[in-house]
Amino acid sequence: MSRTPIIAGNWKMNNTIKETKALLTELIPLVKDAACDVVVCAPYTSLAAAAKLLRGTNIKLGAENVHWAEKGAFTGEISADMLKELKVAYVIVGHSERRQYFGETDETVNMRAKAALSRKLKPIICVGELLEERESGKTEAVVKAQIKGAFAGIPTRQLKNIVIAYEPVWAIGTGKTATADDADNTIAVIRKTIAKLYNKGAAEEIRIQYGGSMNAKNVAELMAKPNIDGGLIGGASLKAEDFSKIVNN
Ligand code: PGA
Repeated sequence: MSRTPIIAGNWKMNNTIKETKALLTELIPLVKDAACDVVVCAPYTSLAAAAKLLRGTNIKLGAENVHWAEKGAFTGEISADMLKELKVAYVIVGHSERRQYFGETDETVNMRAKAALSRKLKPIICVGELLEERESGKTEAVVKAQIKGAFAGIPTRQLKNIVIAYEPVWAIGTGKTATADDADNTIAVIRKTIAKLYNKGAAEEIRIQYGGSMNAKNVAELMAKPNIDGGLIGGASLKAEDFSKIVNN
């Protein structure tokens, strides 16, 4: 079994076009020899500039959301075709901030993931429990339900185009990281869930990232775990040096 690790930055609502150009210009040489897949997920307004700078590099471009419809009356939304046109390869779907602040549900996550796949965009599907869910022992049930919902109707042949990000909500942007063992255990549950929904081979092949205050200091311990195939990095992706240290770990 050989899963290529994947480190993805999630810039969230950060970086103007000018800041994007500066950050990527600094980042590109720092990660050019990376042994893993490198992705930068940028806000929509930065995608065109980022695509231009990333051409011919080993960094793939990602977006932070995608709508499920092909086109139509959805003010403020962006379609998969629009992202394809900008050379976007990956798209984050179901981030906990979307679930918390913008009413994202397992059903809409599923629809967005399917729309991405239909246009050959690779969704990074995010799941993870809230603090109160962890404290009341519901972590496993929560991530199982989120995975079932997100993957409904997605055929086995598409699994190779999907990345899962396990992000405990209480660890995002808080400086609190799940212990490497806790993260690995929950990711193992996610893998088992995929095995049940599909088959064991598919579960062994799918890449599952950890996300939530991952940084240059804790990356080695997390990546040493057998089930953790990379990271979805928020805060630490905003500085080229920090992000490159994670990539080159
Ligand atoms: P963080 O964010 O690294 O700042 O905790 C991770 C994420 O939200 O994807």
